[in-house]
Amino acid sequence: MADRLKGKRVVFIGAATGIGRETVRQFAAEGAQLVIADKNAEQGQASAAADKLGGIDVLVNNAAIQYSGAITDFDVERWDRIYAVNVKGIFLACKHAIPHLRKSKAASIVSTASLAGLRGGPGMTAYSSTKGAVIALTTALALELAPDRIRVNAVCPGWVDTPFNNPAIDYMGGADVQARILSAMVPLGRQAVPAEIAPLFVYLASDESIFMTAQSIVIDGGVYN
Ligand SMILES: NC(=O)c1ccc[n+]([C@@H]2O[C@H](COP(=O)([O-])OP(=O)(O)OC[C@H]3O[C@@H](n4cnc5c(N)ncnc54)[C@H](O)[C@@H]3O)[C@@H](O)[C@H]2O)c1
Repeated sequence: MADRLKGKRVVFIGAATGIGRETVRQFAAEGAQLVIADKNAEQGQASAAADKLGGIDVLVNNAAIQYSGAITDFDVERWDRIYAVNVKGIFLACKHAIPHLRKSKAASIVSTASLAGLRGGPGMTAYSSTKGAVIALTTALALELAPDRIRVNAVCPGWVDTPFNNPAIDYMGGADVQARILSAMVPLGRQAVPAEIAPLFVYLASDESIFMTAQSIVIDGGVYN
């Protein structure tokens, strides 16, 4: 495949590693023009990106952090921090990108939520609730922006092999325990690799999904059923 994103001017937030890095690689292979932002300053970066690209057609909100822990022991500053990155970061990026997206002929916002936003687990109250917020934000914003023909969707991966999960793996009791849990829990028997998740972002960013909005699509090997 090639050129599915030809002419698309993309601002991609959170692309240094993991799913973001592979997705940016696939976006570039499909002809997208990209500005990549990582770590803070979404406002300045959205405006600078619009100047550099001559406009914005696609915003991808992929940045997130994860802290695990029992709620009674959970540090308040960590709670505020995870919400600042995982939820407020998307709010700010959308707030400052939308004026540019309104000028696009076919605009799309894609945010990375998570299976964890639909189905929680022990030690996951902070992370799961931020991802539930991303799913709710996606629906509400899609309806708000539908008159502007800006589509808003989210990707909900299950377990993906990136360093992101290290805190959760530690909380579970290590990589061996995680592997045993996943082989029992995931109908397809394993976690994904980023290259298996990235094509969904390509689809949602491209005009192939032109009639799709307000969706949070699960890609998790069959866990959520
Ligand atoms: N790995 C999984 O199992 C999994 C499952 C479901 C959802 N997700 C989601 O996928 C997305 C990517 O995660 P990943 O697994 O590739 O992990 P990752 O840690 O490799 O990627 C996260 C990216 O966000 C960036 N980032 C962190 N804080 C930032 C900030 N304040 N501003 C800008 N960028 C920041 C990091 O530098 C990194 O590039 C995240 O939204 C995560 O919640 C991951």
